Order: sequence, then structure tokens, then C-alpha cells
Amino acid sequence: MTADVSNVEDVRHALANRLAIDGGEPVRTTPLPWELPGAHWIGEEERELVERVVLARSPFRFYGLDPQHMVDTLEREWCEAYGHKHALAVSSGTAALAVAVAALGIGPGDEVLIPGYLWVSCVSAVVRNGAIPRLVDMDATYCMDPEDVARKIGPHTRAVLCVHMSGAPGHIARIAGICKARGVSLIEDCAQAAGARVKDTAVGRFGDIGIFSFQLNKNMTSGDGGMIVCEDDALFRRIVALHDLGYPRTPAGRLDVSDAQCQLWGMGARMSELAGAMALAQSRKLPAITGAMRGAKWAIRKAVEGIAGLTFREVPDPDGDTGPTLLMLLPDGETASAFIAALRAEGIAGPPGSLSCITMREWGLHWYFNIPSLVNRRSNARDGFPWSHPSNAFAADYDYGHGALPVCDDVHARGVLLTISSNLAEQDIRDIVHAIRKVAAGLLR
Ligand SMILES: Cc1ncc(COP(=O)(O)O)c(C=O)c1O
Repeated sequence: MTADVSNVEDVRHALANRLAIDGGEPVRTTPLPWELPGAHWIGEEERELVERVVLARSPFRFYGLDPQHMVDTLEREWCEAYGHKHALAVSSGTAALAVAVAALGIGPGDEVLIPGYLWVSCVSAVVRNGAIPRLVDMDATYCMDPEDVARKIGPHTRAVLCVHMSGAPGHIARIAGICKARGVSLIEDCAQAAGARVKDTAVGRFGDIGIFSFQLNKNMTSGDGGMIVCEDDALFRRIVALHDLGYPRTPAGRLDVSDAQCQLWGMGARMSELAGAMALAQSRKLPAITGAMRGAKWAIRKAVEGIAGLTFREVPDPDGDTGPTLLMLLPDGETASAFIAALRAEGIAGPPGSLSCITMREWGLHWYFNIPSLVNRRSNARDGFPWSHPSNAFAADYDYGHGALPVCDDVHARGVLLTISSNLAEQDIRDIVHAIRKVAAGLLR
């Protein structure tokens, strides 16, 4: 009798553990919420501020019928919240990067070190300014490896563009120290890590210039938008001029062409008051949004840590992580694909169109060798600028193809990514943990 009961239990147990991909019961059948952290939090506050701009008929930041100073307020509050001296809101993170590189006076004859796990905008900012990108490998933080930064800084290096990928900084203080010691500027791309910090220092405060993005996928959003932060007065004056029409503005909001030190070529990347109103409301929610993601992410991570065959990205300061992604490494690429397929079958996926549960191989332009314009040295100009510029001849042998960065290539091959929505319910978190354990038990034995 006892044997029969335990037999029934065994069968029940086997059925419950049969992976959904093999015909078992999925852990859940309803999609997880979309990623898009800020979007879930858009509400009355955003509507109220946008409405004020509309009712005042004043969508331009520098003058108008009755300006509401949304962008000014956003910049002031950003400085107060994160300890920056200067902040300038702009139209996108891509524009912010281009402005940052130009503000440092970088051009032909210069090289900028960039990571191999990045976003295409990082490369375009360098190339469109006439300089040459040079690739640096990642370490276990999935951000730039300080050792490789130190190794790659050469006679043409003018700046390091360090990207705080997937919500969390790596060894940024060490990288800042290396840049300082070697006389090289540091730009921090905080597009994916608004609100992140290391100990008590906010991202964007380690380098000469920091940039943020408020595009829809980011920790807070105004649809499109971005921010540039910097501590230096003269540099900030150039940043302001460059994001606009090449000149600073008078207190009345008119262009001031009188300063011979600040007559530049602008990029037309101002933030409108409508975007400013959205971004202002969202920025006030940023600590709550990142707090929700960080809490969920680390609850999941702690619950699945220790499973043989599953390893995690090193996060030097988990309290400063913003939490939008859980990055895991599997023993090899085949297992990584099987792991993700099995998790999706268990219902660990967002609605159609979301990229919530993917292998790193499905992560597109985040990987250097997936950027055709870089690998093929494309140009917007007919003469092949900047690759063809005589001052850039030093970079003729630089390799941008797959194989250039072994650690990046390895993480690309066997890494997987789970986005952590900013509005996960307790049950969602339990389901994710359950599914990871179930799939790992089925695949990683
Ligand atoms: C690391 C990184 N840098 C820059 C950008 C560009 O930001 P945006 O889309 O606002 O131009 C993004 C996001 O798209 C990003 O992920």
C-alpha cells in the first residue's frame, strides 16, 4: 500500500516537473508585463504637467507666451537629486553622446575607447565627430574591463566612453582613476542606468561628462529625451551651445553670438517643454521605479543563486543597481538556447513584441560585431570620412569583427537576459523563480 502511494507521488512529481517544452504543464499561461520601466508608471502626474504646458501654449523652453519652465525644473531637480553641478536636458541619448564627444573637442586624429557590449549610438557619436572608436573588452561586470582600458590607452586616445550596461555600473571608480592618471577624458553613458550609483556616488559623477536617455526602454521615459551632466563650467557652456544652434543663450532666451570662445556648430537637440513635463514627472518617480525593479531582480537572483551551471553577472554594489535586467551565463551556447526556449515555454515571456526573455545572441546592436556600419567602416559622406581621413591612418588595422573581444564574444555566445518589469506582482516573481528552478533542474543536471 505504502509503495503504491509513493508510486503515485513519484508520478505526480515527475508530471509536475516535466518541462512545458516537453509537454508538461507550464508554470504560467499569462504573459509577464512588458519591460519599459517608466511606461508602467505614467499617470496623473505626467498628464497634469503636460497639460500645464499645453494650456499655457508654451511648448518651447527658452521663451513663449507663458513658459512653465518644465525643462529648467527637471535640470535643477536632477542636479539636486544626484549631486551634479550642471545638467542639460536634450532630445535623446544619441544626441547627448554626440554632444559630449564634440564638447571635448574630439575629432580626426583622436581615438575613443568604447566597450564591445554597448549600443550603436556610442559608436556613431565617435564616428560622426570624425574620430576613431577602439574596442575594449568587458570583465565579469559586463562593463569595461579596467585592465583592458589601461592596456588600450595609446598615443591617440583622447577619451574613454564607459557604458553602464543593463542597469548597473561596473568598476567605474577604477576606470576613472586610470583615465585621470593617463590624462584621458571619461564620458559615462548612463542611458541604461538612470538612478544607479556606486556606494554614495551617482553614475555620471565619475567622469567629465555623463549622459542619460529617456527613450521608452529606459528606467524613466519621456518617449524620447536625454540628459547631459558635467561639473566643469567652461565645458558645460560648450555642451549648452552644441546641443542648441552652436551658441549660448541670453537670459531672455535669445542666441548670444558675442563670445568668441563659444561659436560652434549646433546639433539641434533641445528638449521641448512637452518632453520636459513628461520627464519631470517621471524623474520624481525614478527612485520608486528603480526600487521596484531592484527589489524584484535581487529577490529572483537570490532565490536561484547556487544552481550548478548557472552563473551571474558581478555587480560591485547591488544597492546601486537599478535592476532592469537579470543576466545569466549558461555552460555553452546550445544550453543557453535550450534554457531560454524552455523558460518561454513555461510562460516566462512578455506580450508579443517584447524582448523579455532572450539569449544574448538575440540582443542585436548591443554587440560590436552586429553593427554593420562599424564592421564595414561605413561613412555618411562620399569620401569615406572619418575612416579615410589622413589623421586617422593610425587605425587602419583596427579590427571590429567578431573575435576582437574574447570575453564579450563568450558572454554573447552563452549569456541570457531576462528583463525585470517595474510592476511585477509577487506571483510573477514566484513564477519566474519557479520556472528558472524547474528548467535548470531539467536541463542543467
Ligand atoms: C547604452 C545606450 N546609449 C545610448 C542610447 C541612446 O539613447 P536614445 O535612444 O535616447 O537615443 C541607448 C538607448 O537607446 C543606450 O542603451
